[in-house]
Amino acid sequence: MNKPRVDIDEIMERYPGEPRYLISLLQDVQAAYNYISPEAMNLVCDHVGVPLTRAWSVATFYKSFSLEPRGEHEIRVCLGTACHLKGGARISEGVEMDLGVEAGRTTEDLKFTLETVNCLGACALAPVVMVDDAYIGGATRTKVRNLLKKL
Ligand code: FES
Repeated sequence: MNKPRVDIDEIMERYPGEPRYLISLLQDVQAAYNYISPEAMNLVCDHVGVPLTRAWSVATFYKSFSLEPRGEHEIRVCLGTACHLKGGARISEGVEMDLGVEAGRTTEDLKFTLETVNCLGACALAPVVMVDDAYIGGATRTKVRNLLKKL
């Protein structure tokens, strides 16, 4: 499902133009657009009066911020120890082939972003893949592929 369009000016109006609102603004931009574009970053910096270099270092420090467009759906393949032992790497490679992107990348149609992670906190279900908020336990390439076809 596509996110509703939010006007960037509307986001800026939510906070006074003070440096302490930098992170709140970046979070709102991230939530609205799924990433922080260079244009949005410039507007945020102008609004709160912080140098671009500081905003970039904040945005690159926190993993919750993305500086590249993200897909509509997020796929996280676990490569932690339990999942690795049960074939996590094969699943990851399979999903990479199916989507035509490497882990860490987004498909050209902006439909999927593929990530690998070190543990999803559900080791008993290994191998585990998460698609958006749904856990796929005992994951196989086929299970993941079938789910992605439905999205
Ligand atoms: S190692 Fe995969 S869920 Fe913990």
